[in-house]
Amino acid sequence: MSGAIKVAPSMMCADFLNLGAQLALLEDKGVDYLHIDIMDGHFVPNFTLGPDFCRRLCEHSHVPLDIHLMVERPESFIPLFASFGLPALYIHPETSYHPVRCLQLIKSCGARPGLAIDPALPLEAVRCLLPYAELACIMTVNPGYAGQELLPHTIAKLGKLAEMVAAEGYPIEIEVDGNVSWKNIPLMIEAGARILVAGSSSLFEAGGDLADNLERLYGMIGRR
Ligand code: DX5
Ligand code: ZN
Repeated sequence: MSGAIKVAPSMMCADFLNLGAQLALLEDKGVDYLHIDIMDGHFVPNFTLGPDFCRRLCEHSHVPLDIHLMVERPESFIPLFASFGLPALYIHPETSYHPVRCLQLIKSCGARPGLAIDPALPLEAVRCLLPYAELACIMTVNPGYAGQELLPHTIAKLGKLAEMVAAEGYPIEIEVDGNVSWKNIPLMIEAGARILVAGSSSLFEAGGDLADNLERLYGMIGRR
């Protein structure tokens, strides 16, 4: 394992009735990003968080946002979401006719362009896009829902993406999103993940304590 591992709590999995306290704890303990899932009910069959949620987080925390757009025609929404503290902003390239233009638009808005890579999308489909991205997120479950099982082929895919990025020397941060569980975290890091989206499988697991879980996660990645 090499390189520092970053933690991005998946805020759709937070306790909304206790959100202020959870946000304060995450910030106090130094998490790296807040992962925000944005869904449109078309590209994925669900709805979750939205722009007002992002705005409120920005007003109450200094932790940079890591916004995962699971929406059709993301170009329509990029300027709005880019305005929330100049976040990392991920598009699924198959949701736009012009994914390069989307990545360039994110950059021109001052935010950090990211690619979210669906389990079904071959890595060859993103090869031409990597020069325009600062982050790439391998989805290890089908996008749309928390609490799903890992799709095993995505671990090898994570490794292949890490090799592709290293071979070209791209300064891209590799993220993993979906069933980032206590069991899967070591495999994901070994394969090349450097940002862990921690949702209901670890940090926010049912019945667990957030502070204890964060400490356990930090222990696993050699932090504090
Ligand atoms: C899935 C979401 C994830 C999800 C991951 O579409 O992008 O962020 O919250 O959390 P778990 O651990 O439930 O898979
Ligand atoms: Zn996500």
